[in-house]
Amino acid sequence: MKNIAVIGAGTMGNGIAHTFAQSGFTVKLIDISEKSLEKGIATIASNLDRMVAKGTITEEDKHKTIGNIITYTDIKDGVTGCDLVVEAATENLTLKLNIFKQLSEVCDHNTILATNTSSISITQIAASVVHPERVIGMHFMNPVPIMKLVEIIRGYNTTNEVTKTIMDLSVKLGKTPTEVNDYPGFVANRILMPMINEAIETLYNKVAGVQEIDTVMKLGMGHPMGPLQLADFIGLDVCLAILNVMYDGFKNPKYAPCPLLVNMVMAGKLGAKSGEGFYDYAESKKAEKVSKQFS
Ligand SMILES: NC(=O)c1ccc[n+]([C@@H]2O[C@H](COP(=O)([O-])OP(=O)(O)OC[C@H]3O[C@@H](n4cnc5c(N)ncnc54)[C@H](O)[C@@H]3O)[C@@H](O)[C@H]2O)c1
Repeated sequence: MKNIAVIGAGTMGNGIAHTFAQSGFTVKLIDISEKSLEKGIATIASNLDRMVAKGTITEEDKHKTIGNIITYTDIKDGVTGCDLVVEAATENLTLKLNIFKQLSEVCDHNTILATNTSSISITQIAASVVHPERVIGMHFMNPVPIMKLVEIIRGYNTTNEVTKTIMDLSVKLGKTPTEVNDYPGFVANRILMPMINEAIETLYNKVAGVQEIDTVMKLGMGHPMGPLQLADFIGLDVCLAILNVMYDGFKNPKYAPCPLLVNMVMAGKLGAKSGEGFYDYAESKKAEKVSKQFS
């Protein structure tokens, strides 16, 4: 494995590209939006600057890492000759099925097709390609360069060989891969999202304010950040999409997204990435301040 394509340069895609590039892989970072690519590269550069300032890496490591990343807006150009594609585009089933259909047409039949989806069925995504046995979930956590876990999700047809390759590769990236089966939300979001949704419901029911809810969970439960702040960092649109996948997948009302979350997403309040969610980020650069908690 040498050449990796990453599809999507948003919150997760730029972190995944950063992580592979820092481990010496050549990364082709693909996004339909030129603006997202520019923002993604700028984010990688500023995260690397922070690592240099902390003495975790050298200035030379930073330049090598940036030099290992090439950007593309055309999926076909980007994935040609790649050993592995990690799809990290928007959490939307139709969009992902379209991307995988295209990948199936343009990639070599040996290429492993991984998705960073938070909740969508790997088996369903795999059904859109010619070789479903080469499709696997490679669920990185946010922020990718920092977080150790990679949740590895086997689809119904994923082979042992593909699973082992991806488990070994995750170790090479300095991560701890954990294998789980393919059910809505897998393990991470099946447990996390009901908690975030309940925190939003608690706010919606006026039991307490944003700061109070997050303080209770931080100081009372030892969480490094409160669930509302975490939702802002994940992206409220991503949280809503995951809850909807679990609600549809299990047909269980306990996963129904809180109406306040639905309203905020419809109003364009998507969290840190849009400048406002449960907290206001644009005004006082709070996003920058809080994101330093990760580093
Ligand atoms: N945000 C999180 O904390 C988190 C954590 C783990 C997994 N995920 C998953 O990672 C994936 C990406 O989430 P995100 O938070 O980075 O989203 P995001 O909204 O930050 O970024 C998505 C990017 O995908 C691009 N895109 C959309 N359609 C595309 C296409 N056809 N081809 C190429 N690029 C396209 C968009 O331009 C955008 O830059 C989702 O599946 C999400 O569920 C997110």
